[in-house]
Amino acid sequence: AIDISKLRDLTGHITLDFGYKNTGATKSAITFLDGEQGILKYRGYPIEELAEKASFLEVAYLLIYGVLPSKQEIEKFQSDISMHTLIHEDMKKFFDGYPSKSHPMAQLSSLVCSLSTFYPESLEANQSEEQKNDTIIKMLAKMTTIVAFIYKKSLGHPLIYPKNKYDYITNYVWMTFGQRTEDFEPNPKVVSAMNKLLILHADHEQNCSTSTVRIVGSSDCNLYASISAGISALWGPLHGGANQAVIEMLEKIKEDGGDTDKWIAKAKDKNDPFRMMGFGHRVYKNFDPRAKIIKKACDDILESLGINDPVLEIAKKLEQAALTDQYFIDRKLYPNVDFYSGIIYRALGFPSEMFTVLFALGRLPGWIAQWKEMRENKEPIGRPRQIYVGDVDKHL
Ligand code: ACO
Repeated sequence: AIDISKLRDLTGHITLDFGYKNTGATKSAITFLDGEQGILKYRGYPIEELAEKASFLEVAYLLIYGVLPSKQEIEKFQSDISMHTLIHEDMKKFFDGYPSKSHPMAQLSSLVCSLSTFYPESLEANQSEEQKNDTIIKMLAKMTTIVAFIYKKSLGHPLIYPKNKYDYITNYVWMTFGQRTEDFEPNPKVVSAMNKLLILHADHEQNCSTSTVRIVGSSDCNLYASISAGISALWGPLHGGANQAVIEMLEKIKEDGGDTDKWIAKAKDKNDPFRMMGFGHRVYKNFDPRAKIIKKACDDILESLGINDPVLEIAKKLEQAALTDQYFIDRKLYPNVDFYSGIIYRALGFPSEMFTVLFALGRLPGWIAQWKEMRENKEPIGRPRQIYVGDVDKHL
C-alpha cells in the first residue's frame, strides 16, 4: 500500500468524499430542498402549490428565468417554443438506423446531442444573450417532438407532427397519442396528469444528472451536449431509471404471488443484491414531498380514467409493510418520487421503457436552469481531486 503521508507534499490536503455525500460544488438560487423536513421549493415556491396551480411551462419559465411569467411573458414563451417544435427532416433518418428494440434513453441522449450538428451556432463561444436564449427555446421545443417520435417509432406507427395551436403539454400528448382522424383531441385528463407529473420532476438541485450537466457545461460545452450527458446520467436505475425498475419489480412480485413480506426480506438481506426500487433517497430522510403528491395523483388519475391496476395494491402493501419495518425505519428509507410515477405513466398508456424518457422531459427545464446559472456565475471548470492509491515506483 502507498504511504499517503509521502504524497501529501505533492498534493496538498484533499477532502475525500465518495459520492459527494457532504461536499457542496456550487451555490444555487434555483431549488431549495430540506431533506430532514421533506421540503422542496422552486425559486421559493412550494412544490405542492406549483403542482396544484401552475402549468409545466410556467414552472419551466420560473426555473430558467427566476420569476413566474406575466400573461404576456408566458404567451411569448409559448409562441417562441411553438415556432421551433419541428425537428430537421434529416433527423428522422437516425430513427431508421436504431435497432427496433433499442432503449429509448440511448436514442434520446444521442438525438439531443445531435441537435448541436443542426444548430452549429450553439457551439460558438461568446454568444449574445439572444443567441443563448434561442438555443434554450430550441432545446425545450424539440425535446417534446423527439420524445414523441421515439415512442411512435417504437410502435412502428407513423410520426405525428406538432400542432402549434396546442400548448406545450397538449402538443406533446397530441404527438404521442394523436390518431390520424379528423376529430381526435388530446384527453384533458391525460394532459393534466402529465402536467403535474412533469412539474414534480422539473428540478431537484444537485442530483447525479444535474451535476453532470453542470460539470460538462463547465468546460464551455454547448447546451445540447451538456443535456445529452445529463440524460445518460439519468438513465441508471439508481437515479431516473428507478421508475422503470419499480414497475418491473412490482410486476415480478405480482407474478410471484404478491407476497410482499418475502420481497421485503430480500431487500434487507445483505447477501442479496436486490434493493427495494423506489425506496430511499440521498437527501430525503423523512419523506419525499413529491411522493406524497404522486401517491394521491395516482389514486385520482386511475379513478378518473377508470383503470384498476393490480400492481397499485401491491405498491401500497409494500409501502405499508416497509414503513413499519425496523430495517427501513433505521435507515430512513421512504418511497421516493419514482415509486408511484410508473403506475401513472402506465395508466396513461406508456410502456415501461418510456418512463425514464418522460422523467427527462420533466427534468429538462431544471437542467437548462442549472446550466445557465453555472455559466452566469462564471464557475470554473469542474475537476474533482483524488487520492492516488496505485503503484508509485515502477520502472521498465
Ligand atoms: N432497499 C434496501 N436497502 C436500501 C435501499 C433500498 N432501496 N436504499 C438504501 N438501502 C440501505 C443500504 O443498503 C444501506 O444499508 P447499510 O447501512 O446497512 O449498508 C443504507 O440503506 C444506506 O444506503 P446507501 O446506498 O448508502 O444510500 P445512498 O444515499 O448512497 O443511496 C439511493 C440512495 C441510491 C437512492 C438508494 O436508496 C437506492 O439505491 N434506492 C433504490 C433506487 C431508487 O429508488 N433510486 C431513485 C432515487 S430518487 C431519484 O433519483 C429520482
